[in-house]
Amino acid sequence: MNLYDRIPNNVNLSEDKRLQRALEKWLPNYLDWWHDMGPDGFQDKDVWLRTAIDVGSEGWAHFDYVKMPDYRWGIFLEPARPDAKVGFGDNYSAPAYQEVPGEFRNSLRRIIVTQGDTEPASVEQQRQLGHTCPSLYDMRKLFQVNVEEGRHLWAMVYLLHGYFGRDGRDEADALLERRSGNPDKPRILEAFNQPFDDWLNFFSFTMFTDRDGKYQLSALAESGFEPLARTCKFMLTEEAHHMFVGDTGLSRVVRRTAQLMKQSPNEDVRQSGGIPLDIIQRYINFWFSYSLDLFGGEISSNSADFFAAGLKGRFKEQEQYTDHIASEGSFTMMVVEDGKLVPREVPLRNALNEVLRGEYVKDCEKGLARWNRALADEGVNDRLSLPNIRFHRHVGEYSSHSFDIEGNLISKEKFEKRKTQWLPSIEDREYVRSLMRPVTEPGKIANWIAPPAAGIKGKPFEFEYVRL
Ligand SMILES: [Fe+2]
Ligand SMILES: [Fe+2]
Repeated sequence: MNLYDRIPNNVNLSEDKRLQRALEKWLPNYLDWWHDMGPDGFQDKDVWLRTAIDVGSEGWAHFDYVKMPDYRWGIFLEPARPDAKVGFGDNYSAPAYQEVPGEFRNSLRRIIVTQGDTEPASVEQQRQLGHTCPSLYDMRKLFQVNVEEGRHLWAMVYLLHGYFGRDGRDEADALLERRSGNPDKPRILEAFNQPFDDWLNFFSFTMFTDRDGKYQLSALAESGFEPLARTCKFMLTEEAHHMFVGDTGLSRVVRRTAQLMKQSPNEDVRQSGGIPLDIIQRYINFWFSYSLDLFGGEISSNSADFFAAGLKGRFKEQEQYTDHIASEGSFTMMVVEDGKLVPREVPLRNALNEVLRGEYVKDCEKGLARWNRALADEGVNDRLSLPNIRFHRHVGEYSSHSFDIEGNLISKEKFEKRKTQWLPSIEDREYVRSLMRPVTEPGKIANWIAPPAAGIKGKPFEFEYVRL
């Protein structure tokens, strides 16, 4: 098998022998990891998958049946722009960095490793879900997300091998050694150590946690370190599909619940095997709050340093802003002082995590509006909502205090007492799990979710997306 078939790429890998050797050494370890920790029970099945073959906006993807271990993971970067400039910060408009700037080597490596770690982690979290898929269409969507997260790992490993020498290689190996939820060698970020054994978790995760990925990648796609910017730009095209899976998945669950409410006495959907809206709301509360943590502390000297250095920008830095220096200006946020919530002014550069988080929240609200439209369409009066950003936080200003769902400061005791009202209880999770029975006949679907509005790439919903 030639090199391009083993490692599809658009980075002239065959001309860089050192990098080629390093990646070829990493490849069998990656495949071992995929066999051990990738989707359980379906590795030898033909799945109708999309494969990235080029980065061109027209037809970059190819659809065909493929067994997941034979998926062509590869390295694809947006084409280089010879005149690329640093787009923001203290070095604004200097030529973009083609190599890692020495003084930021450690922080940049940390950014890449942290992003890279989430990719295999999510595959591990999702590895049992194939066994309980609500339809073949959904099973294929799950596997598509899984192989693309695998490719995202490749993207980050390429940067580590290509630009960080020895310690980059060690980090690339460590990415295959940590395990989601393992107490001795956990994944780096907490949302990626949460177990999930039901599809409501999967849809919530791809809606809220993959969407954090979109914002992190967008900020890095602005980076003055060009190889990182080009890598992230291409990853974003795949990420969009993951969020689509989450957004439409939850929308279909909500719609089905509404339909069952209208059919059931007292709108009690447990009788008819649906997922009650209050359970859906608690899953939203859980995943939204954990995903907010992924943006980091509200007041952050790291965010200021990364921006100053031109490494991590704001969301749509070039399109949305005119002042790319941002060295003046401030941002007002609520903090807890002497047991009270009070506004505090923070230098803008130190508040950039919070600025990015704000963009993310706006995006999530659009999803909620869509789901609420589904409820209205079906004639149900209840509505879903996002909790306040201070609720149930484990990172940053709010993590050492307790807040109710509206963001009011409350005592820890009060929070504990009302917790099951706001967050999924063991009974909620058991109930949802009890509904998770596999439906694998083409064209059939589980009772707790509505079918999708359309199939995939012109194929009907009844298409045999996975050959079992
Ligand atoms: Fe990803
Ligand atoms: Fe993703």
